[in-house]
Amino acid sequence: MFRGKKKKPGQELEIVDIEKDRSLDKVPEKPGDDKSKKRRKRKTIREDNGKIVPDKGHNKEPVEEGEDGHGVLIEFEDVCKKYSQGENEFYALKDANLTINEGEMVVILGPSGAGKSTLLNLLGGMDCASSGHIWFDGDDLTTYSDNRLTRYRAENVGVVFQFYNLIPTLTAYENVALMKDIKDGTTDPKEALSAVGLAQHMHQFPSQMSGGEQQRTSIARAIAKNPKLLLCDEPTGALDTGTGKEVLKLLQRMSRDKGRTVVMVTHNSFFADIADTVIRVKNGGIESIVRNDAPKDASEVFW
Ligand SMILES: Nc1ncnc2c1ncn2[C@@H]1O[C@H](COP(=O)(O)OP(=O)(O)OP(=O)(O)O)[C@@H](O)[C@H]1O
Ligand SMILES: [Mg+2]
Repeated sequence: MFRGKKKKPGQELEIVDIEKDRSLDKVPEKPGDDKSKKRRKRKTIREDNGKIVPDKGHNKEPVEEGEDGHGVLIEFEDVCKKYSQGENEFYALKDANLTINEGEMVVILGPSGAGKSTLLNLLGGMDCASSGHIWFDGDDLTTYSDNRLTRYRAENVGVVFQFYNLIPTLTAYENVALMKDIKDGTTDPKEALSAVGLAQHMHQFPSQMSGGEQQRTSIARAIAKNPKLLLCDEPTGALDTGTGKEVLKLLQRMSRDKGRTVVMVTHNSFFADIADTVIRVKNGGIESIVRNDAPKDASEVFW
């Protein structure tokens, strides 16, 4: 069901909790720093109801690929994110189990407050689980030290934040160019900004741009890093339909042509049609995970 994508060597990059990661080059790798658990990629199975779940029968048996021929890049195993409010405990995410294959495009849907951003933040190593395990490429993120988690974000993750998170004192170009300081092999900022239609505005500061232009700058910053895992929280929320569709096409190309794994949170259920996998979240739980055998091209989606 998946296209025959293979990951390409080189140009893996980043993230974007820029504020967190500007200190990156100052983070030394200490001996014994990485106490992460490691295991081989696991196989997934499809249940009768269509859900893709980890094949528990393969826990101890090393398997390189998922059932569709692609490696499992990410796996959540009984992941919880809990907040304490006085004597009460509140679960933003509870007992989440899911797998995401390398190179697929995943859409996460759910009502406001369902836990979508929480899920995305855990995927990107921007937040830590209260319990459970998060496997990325065979490593358990929940065992990482702060330094190791910083390196994980810098090397593997690009983020389009729900509220952009641009640095107000830098121009659009400079915001995107920051990626070069985090890792080698980034796309030229001008090229990334042109890809989102902002070539004309690249020397403007965030305060001089519309919400949609700031959002596109945030998208350019994430794609410039050419990350293995691209996380997008409502990337079209501030865009008109035409511009939103261009962004969707761009994200789909990152998955289809570049083999990047793209995870997009949205309220727009029409976007489910272009996804390889649709994860529905409700009240802090995973309501359903459905693999789409014939995802539409982004140009065919209307809303
Ligand atoms: N730091 C925090 N402290 C306490 N509660 C939190 C915290 N962060 C998130 N929550 C709560 O966890 C729940 C899930 O939040 P989350 O931001 O993941 O929702 P969401 O699905 O992304 O919603 P939206 O669509 O409105 O962005 C919400 O009820 C939220 O109030
Ligand atoms: Mg959110």
